[in-house]
Amino acid sequence: MSPMPNLATQLGPLTLSTPFLAASGTFGYGSEYAPIVDLSKVGAVVTKSLSVKPREGNPTPRIWETPAGMLNAIGLENCGLQSFIDHRVPELAGLPTKVLVNVVGDSVDDYATICSALDKIDAVDGFEINISCPNVKHGTRFASDPKDCERLMKALAPTTKKLLMAKLSPNVTDLAEIARAAVEGGAQALSLINTLIGMAVDVKTRRPRIANVTGGLSGPAVRPVAVRCVWQAAKACPGTPIVGIGGIRSLGDALEFFVVGACAVQVGTTNYLDPDLLNRLPGEFDAWLAQENLGAPSHLTGSLKL
Ligand SMILES: Cc1cc2nc3c(=O)[nH]c(=O)nc-3n(C[C@H](O)[C@H](O)[C@H](O)COP(=O)(O)O)c2cc1C
Repeated sequence: MSPMPNLATQLGPLTLSTPFLAASGTFGYGSEYAPIVDLSKVGAVVTKSLSVKPREGNPTPRIWETPAGMLNAIGLENCGLQSFIDHRVPELAGLPTKVLVNVVGDSVDDYATICSALDKIDAVDGFEINISCPNVKHGTRFASDPKDCERLMKALAPTTKKLLMAKLSPNVTDLAEIARAAVEGGAQALSLINTLIGMAVDVKTRRPRIANVTGGLSGPAVRPVAVRCVWQAAKACPGTPIVGIGGIRSLGDALEFFVVGACAVQVGTTNYLDPDLLNRLPGEFDAWLAQENLGAPSHLTGSLKL
């Protein structure tokens, strides 16, 4: 039973307790935050990207603070599928929230291997298919070419009965085309955005601030780009649930995403600065809906007036 029944949110086959999720790579595997965040109020925890084999990630430095944001090039460091099943799944099983596993791969087979293996595991509620990481070689191949994107989703759809959500990149020429391809291929929901490609330089040493040279820009600096992307994806794929991500640090920020078409949002970089935000958002949203006489959150989704 949701702690706030009014905020229950449908995301494909899943009913989330609230529309406020924790973004991949910024919330560990969920259990790390359990002492400070009431996970029953978090609609879902999205795990760090998971690959078939363990990955060490990129060399350091991998993080650089920027005005109103940060650059990161972690490079998808993770424990790999088998260790995830052995060590992480038992922890996830006890969490009072839904768990979406963020999946990454170098090939269609990699993605399919993870989805098939985890489809049998009850503690996993769905998949966020990461086709949009800018910090690894070929990380955005499936998010840049609509044919590749559709082919990947078509291959994954039969591997699972759980939620299949595609996480899209802002680093593309025609976002609407990619969004439509993901849905045509079988994605039941879309989440966006992943980070924007950025760069910072130490002028004294003439070296890049990040060993990978470029990194992914996130935080409030990217929010207007993210709001624009969600708006375009919502127009391109009417009826498909959309999860907005990018620079949310207050209820007001989240509301912008709902108005342009999101049914839920994820909080990312702000978890480092203000981990209490995910505790506050549901109560603040509930009060705001009552004050605006709006009833259900769904009345807000896509209410943009032009
Ligand atoms: C340090 C860091 C690590 C991240 N790791 C991942 C990841 O493993 N997989 C993924 O899909 N997105 C990853 N992201 C991207 C976030 O999930 C999110 O899409 C992006 O940061 C924009 O949201 P924000 O501005 O609220 O952070 C990462 C972001 C940061 C800051």
